[in-house]
This record gives sequence, C-alpha cells and structure tokens, in this order.
Amino acid sequence: MDKRTVRDIDVAGKRVLVRVDFNVEFDGGRISDDSRIRGALPTIEYLRERGAVVVLCSHLGRPGGKVVEEMRLAPVGERLSELLGADVTCVSDCVGPEVEAAVAAAKPGDVLLLENLRFHPEEEKNAPDFAKALASVAEIFVEDGFGVSHRAHASTEGVTRYLPSVAGFLVEAELAALGGLLESPARPLVAVLGGAKVSDKMGVLENFIERVDSLLIGGGMAATFLKAKGLPVGASLVEDDRLDLAREVMARAERGGARLVIPTDVVVADEFSAEAQSRTVDVEDVPDGWRIMDIGHKTLDTFRAEAANGKTILWNGPMGVFEMPAFSRGTREFAAALGSLEGVTTVLGGGSTAEVVHELGITDRITHVSTGGGASLEFLEGRTLPGVAALLDKEA
Ligand code: 3PG
Repeated sequence: MDKRTVRDIDVAGKRVLVRVDFNVEFDGGRISDDSRIRGALPTIEYLRERGAVVVLCSHLGRPGGKVVEEMRLAPVGERLSELLGADVTCVSDCVGPEVEAAVAAAKPGDVLLLENLRFHPEEEKNAPDFAKALASVAEIFVEDGFGVSHRAHASTEGVTRYLPSVAGFLVEAELAALGGLLESPARPLVAVLGGAKVSDKMGVLENFIERVDSLLIGGGMAATFLKAKGLPVGASLVEDDRLDLAREVMARAERGGARLVIPTDVVVADEFSAEAQSRTVDVEDVPDGWRIMDIGHKTLDTFRAEAANGKTILWNGPMGVFEMPAFSRGTREFAAALGSLEGVTTVLGGGSTAEVVHELGITDRITHVSTGGGASLEFLEGRTLPGVAALLDKEA
C-alpha cells in the first residue's frame, strides 16, 4: 500500500483519533453482526499497547443530522468493551467540552468512544469547523473505518487537513485483499456477482469483464441477462434500461475470451413471498407471471465447478432471495462450496454476502470477508476512496 499506516508513525503516549465504521446490524436491540467491531480490534490493541489514548469515532445508521435515541453508540461500546476485555468510556457527544474533558482525563491505554458523528449535520457536509473540532482533541488521526472510506465526510476526509493521518490495520488489510484482485491475482480469476440489481454491480462488471477468466452471474440480476438473451423471465424484476449493458458485457466477455456463465435453471415462485409455491425449471421454461427467486441445482453445480477451477475468487451478492429460507439454497450451498476450497484465495464483498458466511459460521474458511459494502464495490469499480486518498503517502 502506498499510504502510511500506524506502523509508520510514533503513536507512543499520543492522543489518537481513530475513525472506525461501527455501523453494525441490530436485531431487536441486539447487535446481530459484530464483525466491524472485531475488525477494528487489531488497531485499537496496537495503540493501547503503546500507551496511546484511543479516541474512537463512528457513525451508526442515518440519523439525518439530529439525535436519534435508538442510534446511540452505547450498545456498541458495551460490545467493544467485552471484546477488548477493557473499559470503554462512551462520551455523549463527538465534539465540544465534554469530549475535551474526557480526553484530558484519560490515561495511556484508555479507550473512549465518541457519540454518533451523524447526530451533527456538519459531519456529512464535511464542514471544516466540525472537522477541526473533531481533530482538536488529538495529535494523530488513524483511518480504520474502511466501510465508510468512500464517503468524503468530516471524520473521513475533513479531519485529515488538521492532523497527520495514517491508515489502520483494517484499512490496510482491506486494500491488500481487494487490491490483490485488481493487481496480480493468481489465475484463473473467477468473479461471481449476484444481488438484486445489475445497476448496483454495473461498475464492477465493467471494471472486471476484461480482467476475469470466468464471470458467473446469479441472483436477481441474472434475470436482466436472461432477458437480454431473449429468454422468458416471467414476472421477475428486470432492469430494461440495463439490457444493452448486459448485451455489451456478454459481447466483451466473448471478445476477451472470458467465460460468462448465466443460470441454466432457476427456482421460480408464483409470488414474491416466503410461502409462495415454487419449483425449479430450465431457463427456457420460466412460466408467465412467476418470478426467479434462486439459481437451480444444475446452475449451482456449474458455479461450484467453475469456482473449484479458480485460483482467485471474488464473490459479491447473493444467488437468490436468501433471506427467505425456501430460496436461500443457492446462496448457502455456494458459500459452503467456497468455504471448502483449499489453496484458493477467496475474497467476499461485504453487505449481504458477508452476512451469509457469518451466519454459516464459515468466515474463517474465507481468505478475506470485506467489512465494506458500498466501499468495497467502489474500490472494485476502480474508484478512488476519499478517506484513503487523503492519508499520508508512504514516501512523503
Ligand atoms: C455502510 O454500512 O456501508 C457504511 O457504514 C456506510 O454507511 P452509509 O452508506 O450510510 O454512508
């Protein structure tokens, strides 16, 4: 990585402001996925070991610039404290006298968690005064919130104007894993894209089509490819304005010698519901009025075989409507197949793809599961992440 990291700066005994992405999932008031908190532990522990005062800041949800009680970070602070085995002091704001007093009272190795940054509208507006106020309590800034590094906000980009700014270990690991897919992946390189919409994956499709050896298309977005090939898709959601893009991707794959694999059979349902009637049909036989909800078993076998031939695999987006158990088989079994591969680099995009492997308990079997949803997509599209670009260069 061409950016300085916490290893390249003297943090001993310093007050260090760390931007983390603790925008975690909750289920009935409980944190249902703490991987973003776990992801920040190496940086926090490294700083504590060196006697730094660790001042963590994060957003949670989209409160829209005002205080929303359910979006306070206290439950995250509790979880972090359990994981660290140390006290975490939650401060009830992220700028102002209370923060100043808490930081002044902190001892080396103490961890403070500031309140949700997005309770202030200035955060998302990247307002200079707000960024300056955030920076004012620290001597060094560490960007470790990879999942939010695609946002040019006060706490990701603005603050770097006021403090020497370096990457944390999570950002470093994410850039190494995702960057490895773009730079010199072991071949064959297989990209597996799914999820509801072609438009969400358009940038990744365009950036990868000339790089991959195989491109597998599943999920709801497969319907747009099937329709572009003139196949019946029933009542499936199709992005008609992306049919040309789908045709272009297919043509570019053919010209570039990449194998493009779209489903040959699918699970269809008579309505978009967990209790719908369903059956598996060949893609030529999708009945009128029915919707594609998952890949079929023949397609699953093909996808598994393609993955088994790969040396590097990128997977982003579920194969079907995996939140409904009846339509989760393709996603779950494909995830399990990736988890069973040996000697292969497997990199998973964040969001729902990450959720599946966490749920299945096979995260350790995957080389890298990104903590970034939008951020990992933007990076794989080849776009610059403002929260990373603003950090000090290695040779500077
Ligand atoms: C995410 O969950 O992708 C990040 O935390 C960014 O959140 P945002 O999309 O609300 O900016």
